[in-house]
Amino acid sequence: MFSLRKRLSPRWTYERLPPPHSDRMTSRTKCTQWTQQWTCLGVVLAATVVLWFATARLRRLPYSPLDNYQDINPLPVTVVAGLDHSPPNRRAVVSSLYSDSFAIAVAVVGYSAKSANVSARLLLPYLEHKVSEKALCIARAVGWEPYPVPLIPPPHNGKDIHPRFMDLYTKLNIWNLDRMDVDSAVFLDVDTLVRRNFDELFDSPFQFAAVPDVYGAGDPRGFSITINTGVMAFRPSSAVYEDMLQEIEVAEYPLLQADQGFLNLYFGGTCMRLPYIYNANLAIKDRSPILWQRLTDEMRVVRYTTMKPFIQEARSSDAVLTPEETEEAVDKNERQADGFYHEEVGWWRTAYRNMMSDRGHVMRQCYQS
Ligand SMILES: *[C@@H]1O[C@H](CO)[C@@H](O)[C@H](O)[C@H]1NC(C)=O
Repeated sequence: MFSLRKRLSPRWTYERLPPPHSDRMTSRTKCTQWTQQWTCLGVVLAATVVLWFATARLRRLPYSPLDNYQDINPLPVTVVAGLDHSPPNRRAVVSSLYSDSFAIAVAVVGYSAKSANVSARLLLPYLEHKVSEKALCIARAVGWEPYPVPLIPPPHNGKDIHPRFMDLYTKLNIWNLDRMDVDSAVFLDVDTLVRRNFDELFDSPFQFAAVPDVYGAGDPRGFSITINTGVMAFRPSSAVYEDMLQEIEVAEYPLLQADQGFLNLYFGGTCMRLPYIYNANLAIKDRSPILWQRLTDEMRVVRYTTMKPFIQEARSSDAVLTPEETEEAVDKNERQADGFYHEEVGWWRTAYRNMMSDRGHVMRQCYQS
């Protein structure tokens, strides 16, 4: 019992003063003799140098796109002209579909946006050779309008990019939406769920708005000032798109952070930082359950970062999840971490079940195709 407490809180364990004639005193007495003084000094110096190098990693501040800012984005911070409210047919909710395994998840995103009466088109960029007709059929069943986009290869031929992130730069295609007559758009990643209407984002006077990132308990970055790109409110512009394509090759940022690292550099100094309710990252609950509770009733968009209700870890196939597989995944994920995210998984399950009872008859035909 005693040793356990000592291990958990070594800084607060009580240590007695040394008795007057302990060994420690003897060694200190030795150091007062001049022959020993240089040795003692040497030992102290050597220890300091070793400690300095050993803690170098700890003392290094995390990378910050603002401390390392590069002036690569010429856009004004606010939208200069055309602040008149764009009509619903010139607004879009946009996501992405790069693999069949996310078809159900993206359908839930679209269905949840519709259920919250978000007044915008639902536009879904997809990678042509990676997504099947079945997956597109499922997306259409809830109102998405899928359209093919070219893969944007990662910069420097993918050097230092995580294989899982190879497709992510393709996300930048969404800035081309002005070519589809969209003035104002909100991007929602496939691991989001809309809980309330967020129409106000389409009238944002800023070129770009996003929510600051939050890292789970134990990550020293904590409540960061960098932006999370899972939810973005932005003004499409093919001129910006062309500019970005040039800049991804020359901008300097940690390539491991892929598109999010780049967007933090491109917009980090000029973006509007939104409240957490627009990208309520599960990591907030992890760090501060009280804050999470405070935000719950006002959440517009929940983001399943630390855990994804629809992911089946053991699954090797990329195919569209069947309804049985989906329910099974949700059941399993609900029990994860002693059910810490039980309620949040429940929100996703409810949206999924509402979608199936409303649009399931159309979706089931997709499975037969
Ligand atoms: C969405 O609109 C419908 C029809 O006008 C209404 O019945 C429903 O309550 C609205 N839902 C939300 C979440 O506002």
